[in-house]
Amino acid sequence: MPEDNIKIIFTEDGSHSLYNAKLNETYHSFHGAIQESRHVFVKNGLDYHNGVKENVNVFELGFGTGLNALLAAEWALQNEVYITYDTIEAYPISEKQVSMLNYTSLIKGNNIQEWFDTLHKIPWNELHKVSNFFSFKKVHDSITQHTLPLEKYDVIFFDAFAPNKQSEMWEMDILTKIYDSMRPEGAFVTYCAQGQLKRNLKSLNLDVQTLPGPPGKKEMVRAVKNT
Ligand SMILES: C[S@@+](CC[C@H](N)C(=O)[O-])C[C@H]1O[C@@H](n2cnc3c(N)ncnc32)[C@H](O)[C@@H]1O
Repeated sequence: MPEDNIKIIFTEDGSHSLYNAKLNETYHSFHGAIQESRHVFVKNGLDYHNGVKENVNVFELGFGTGLNALLAAEWALQNEVYITYDTIEAYPISEKQVSMLNYTSLIKGNNIQEWFDTLHKIPWNELHKVSNFFSFKKVHDSITQHTLPLEKYDVIFFDAFAPNKQSEMWEMDILTKIYDSMRPEGAFVTYCAQGQLKRNLKSLNLDVQTLPGPPGKKEMVRAVKNT
C-alpha cells in the first residue's frame, strides 16, 4: 500500500493508530488503540486461555503497527507463560511510520522499546526469540493465498479491517482456514460482532460468545473450538 495513503492519528486514549485513506479505515478503534488491544486480544484472548496450557501458540491476522504483538510479549513476561507468536502482513508499514508510533512511551516496562524495535526489524519468515517468554515470526504474505499449519494455534487474534471495508477477509474460505489452524479449545477473538460473522463461525461448529466490547464499542466476539 503506498505510504501516502497512510497517516498517523491519535486515538482517544492518547495512543496512535494509522488511518488508511484509500479504505477510509483506521487500524484500531478511534476510542483508544491500546485500550482496544488490551481488551479484545489480551484480556479476552490471552487471559481467557491462560492456564489451559503452559505454552501458548498465537496467530495474528494483520501485524500492522505491531501493537498486538508488543502487548502479547508484555503479557508473556508478566504471566511467565511462553508464547510462540506467528503473524501475517500483506502490506507492511514503512520504517518511518514505525518510528513515529508512540506505543513504547505509553506501555511501561524495561524491554518495551527493545522488543518493539526487534518485532519490526527482524527479517520476515524467520522465527526469532524476542525474550525468555516470547518467540516471534512474521510472514510477508496475503492470508488469501497463505497455507496455515493444522491444529497449531491456541489463540487467534483476528484483526482484519472491518467487513464493510475488506469483506473478503471475513468470508468462509478464510474463516475455514483459520478454524483448521486452531487446536481444540482454541479461542478466536475479534473486535467485530457482526451477525453474519457470528453465523459463519457457528456454521464451523465454534462456540460463539458475544462479549462486552472495549470502551466505545458495545460488543466483540470470542469463538471457541470444541474438543
Ligand atoms: C486492522 S489492521 C491490523 C492492526 C494490527 N493488528 C495492529 O496491531 O496494528 C489490518 C491489517 O491487516 C493487513 N492486511 C490487509 N489485507 C491483508 C491480507 N490479505 N493478508 C494479510 N494481512 C492483510 C493490513 O495491512 C493491516 O495491517
